[in-house]
Amino acid sequence: MYFPIYRPRRLRADANIRRMVRETTLSVDDFIAPLFVCPGEGVRREISTMPGNYQLSVDELVKEAEELKGLGVPAIILFGIPEEKDELGTGAYDDHGIIQKAIRALKAEVQDLIVITDVCLCEYTSHGHCGVIVDGRVDNDKTLELLAKEAVSHALAGADMVAPSDMMDGRVGFIRNALNNAGFEQITLMSYAVKYASAFYGPFREAAESPPQFGDRKGYQMDPANAREALREAALDIEEGADIIMVKPALSYLDIIHSLRNEFDHPLAAYNVSGEFAMIKAAAAKGWIDGEQAMLESLLSIKRAGADMILTYFAKEAARIL
Ligand code: PBG
Repeated sequence: MYFPIYRPRRLRADANIRRMVRETTLSVDDFIAPLFVCPGEGVRREISTMPGNYQLSVDELVKEAEELKGLGVPAIILFGIPEEKDELGTGAYDDHGIIQKAIRALKAEVQDLIVITDVCLCEYTSHGHCGVIVDGRVDNDKTLELLAKEAVSHALAGADMVAPSDMMDGRVGFIRNALNNAGFEQITLMSYAVKYASAFYGPFREAAESPPQFGDRKGYQMDPANAREALREAALDIEEGADIIMVKPALSYLDIIHSLRNEFDHPLAAYNVSGEFAMIKAAAAKGWIDGEQAMLESLLSIKRAGADMILTYFAKEAARIL
């Protein structure tokens, strides 16, 4: 088995042999494109820290969705920027809210594209937290009621899949139950099962206009130091009825993706978050790395770690290449 009998370079000699022994492949089937919806008409406002990504009014959103579909991307996930925010995030579960309008327009105008909605309150609350504030803290069980209303309202508007990203305890079961009671047992639930309190969400919070106005999210999102806790979180969400589980962010948490892959057989998603996208874009703009190669290599690494699907702001760009 030893040199010179075994020479690993034989299997790297040219593009065809490399193609034959390649263990992991990327495809447009893997991508879910995140999109930001805002009020107005004809609005297409580029997010300064996320080149190629926009705040889109509903009409522009429909065009963007059509384009993604044309490129073969199977799904999009929507984030809403409401007209007004308040203490209880009422815009989140308003049947005429921004996301509900967006879903209805998409369902009327774009066929064969899975519409996923992010279920959370932070984009809709004046304080920017993911739940109801009681005595300066996010109250878990009061928040569950509102998240369930939000998910049902998305389902009513026509969403195919809901994705709770709030990290309240028990929310998957609570939402699943509310959907069932409302006759929406066919709605798929993708849970942000393992979501860390990460510095890599910075650009998203600008895009969604959702930074917390006081404190931080460490009282509900996970501590980046914890890996075993990820297994407990995922197990809970699976017991509560999640169809797909997610790890977020992706690149600093490839070990977590890998261990969830080994532990569970549910479909596994990974969220290649805004900061991960922005870092590559910024370095590429300076000419410090090859942006396209760095994009493909990082997406591939997320697949190799064990993810079945990737939520990524690179969806459109990568789909064009693949
Ligand atoms: C809502 C939510 C966030 C992201 C997805 N859903 C922001 C946060 O938790 O602060 C971040 C996505 C990204 O950075 O790309 N809770």
